[in-house]
Amino acid sequence: MTFPVQRPRRLRTNPAMRRMVAEYRVHPAELILPAFIREDISQPNPISSMPGVVQHTSDSLKKAAAQAAELGLGGIMLFGIPAQRDATGTASLDPNGVLNKAIRDVRSEVGDTLVVMSDLCLDEFTDHGHCGVLADDGTVDNDATLDIYAQMGVAQAEAGAHVVAPSGMMDGQVGVIRAALDAAGAQDVSVLAYAAKYASAFYGPFREAVDSQLAGDRRTYQMDSANRREAILEVELDLAEGADMVMVKPAMSYLDILADVADMSPVPVAAYQISGEYAMIEAAAANGWINRRAAIEESVTSIKRAGANLILTYWATELATWLKEK
Ligand code: PBG
Repeated sequence: MTFPVQRPRRLRTNPAMRRMVAEYRVHPAELILPAFIREDISQPNPISSMPGVVQHTSDSLKKAAAQAAELGLGGIMLFGIPAQRDATGTASLDPNGVLNKAIRDVRSEVGDTLVVMSDLCLDEFTDHGHCGVLADDGTVDNDATLDIYAQMGVAQAEAGAHVVAPSGMMDGQVGVIRAALDAAGAQDVSVLAYAAKYASAFYGPFREAVDSQLAGDRRTYQMDSANRREAILEVELDLAEGADMVMVKPAMSYLDILADVADMSPVPVAAYQISGEYAMIEAAAANGWINRRAAIEESVTSIKRAGANLILTYWATELATWLKEK
């Protein structure tokens, strides 16, 4: 008998064999496209640190949503950039504010063929750029923020969101939003909780994408990257408060967290491949340092392999196009 008998290379001999034995594959229906809509522009506005991503006008957003539906994506996650900001983010509650209007526009474009999700957070709407309102001492006031989040949830549901996605990491946010939705008769609107959201340097390009006014950081409300166990606590609290789905964010530097959450969660688990993850790969590829498509596919597969059921990625549309070719 020659040695070795077991030769793993046999199952790697050609593309058809490798495809057949692949343990994980990505499907368009589990991809969610994050999209930005800006109030005061007449042409889509490129985001320099996210080549290929734009701030949409309402026309270009509707087209992007229609294309996403056409390609069979799972959903779209909307972020609004208002023309006017103030200390409490009042534009977030205006039924005709940029985000609520975009939700309505996208819903009328795609109906129920694409899941319409909205970011539920104040950072795009406040003039100080924090995810909540500030107390007199300048700290983010958790409970005063909850009152506004509850109203935002109702406004977004009334605009037609299938799913609202609180991303501000205020304690108790899922519970108050769920209660407000139920009281408003929006029992069928789901909550996707940004449960384990870490304070990350990789959000950098997003700050340009939403023209963020933030001067400091979010370390008093977003999680510390040094903590792993705490992610389970955050997920358990959100589940107890009624989260229908939970998210880990960012994705690539937090695959261990994603695997932990995937292990224990009884509800679907989403992971957000964020702006900085996108920018790094685009920048390296633009320099000819890595193969762009291979790097994108490998990165998204790694998120799937770690346990994500849903993946938010700025490449969602392009990935779905590639998946169709195969
Ligand atoms: C907060 C929010 C952020 C992102 C999504 N929702 C920014 C932050 O927490 O600082 C980041 C997304 C990305 O970087 O792609 N509304």
